[in-house]
Amino acid sequence: MSRKPIIAGNWKMNLLRGQAKDLFEGIKSFVKDYSAKELPTIVIAPVFTSISAVEAVKCDCGCGGTKISIAGQNCHWENSGAYTGEVSVEMLKDAGCDYVIIGHSERRQYFSETDEMINKKAKAILAGGLIPIICCGETLEQRESGVTDQHIASQIRAALSGISSEDVAKSVIAYEPIWAIGTGKTCDSDEANRVIAMIRNVVKDVAGAEAADSIRILYGGSVKPNTIAEQMSKSDIDGALVGGASLKADSFNEIIANTMKVVVSK
Ligand code: 13P
Repeated sequence: MSRKPIIAGNWKMNLLRGQAKDLFEGIKSFVKDYSAKELPTIVIAPVFTSISAVEAVKCDCGCGGTKISIAGQNCHWENSGAYTGEVSVEMLKDAGCDYVIIGHSERRQYFSETDEMINKKAKAILAGGLIPIICCGETLEQRESGVTDQHIASQIRAALSGISSEDVAKSVIAYEPIWAIGTGKTCDSDEANRVIAMIRNVVKDVAGAEAADSIRILYGGSVKPNTIAEQMSKSDIDGALVGGASLKADSFNEIIANTMKVVVSK
């Protein structure tokens, strides 16, 4: 089984439409020199209001839209209805998204998202033909009190509950220790790899060996151009979910370039 690396940029609540378009163009001008086969899977998650701005310039490079995919940063599990302020999977698909990030710690923390809601979202995303990027991670307090593995295993079991092995296999998980997000404190790559291997074991337990071997599990938390090569060299880390360093074309492109330099079969 070979797992194609993913480099995903989570732009969070940043960039106006013009800025989003410019940044996207900056990434496009880098990837145009490479084939989709050479590149990692590249996913960009702009704010909802900028999706159309990046979508409009996505497919004019002749790649048929295969080099850069777009993700929503959140979704609702219903298709439509009286849910003021929410966006459905069908709407994200209609806007040009292939992926949806769910369960980010910022949504869990500031918007009270529960494991149950994340599970409903994951099911809706897969039913709608999109791919969930399911985030998990521990607080510093949890890490210091030694409950990291237990906490993450329970987040993953809940998120994947009732999802078929086939759907689990095509999903993406992002391990993002909360204490490493936006702090400049990258998790030691051996430790990140250990946690990710643990997550893969949980996936094996709930969905079988084939799904565990196929699912791509990313690391997120202060990923920078100078950290990615070591992270990518680890056995179980299949890519990165990048926040701050995805907001500048230079640093994001360097992360992509450094990922391509690490040739490993996982
Ligand atoms: P930073 O890369 O800014 O630490 O953010 C990580 C993150 O939360 C991506 O989803």
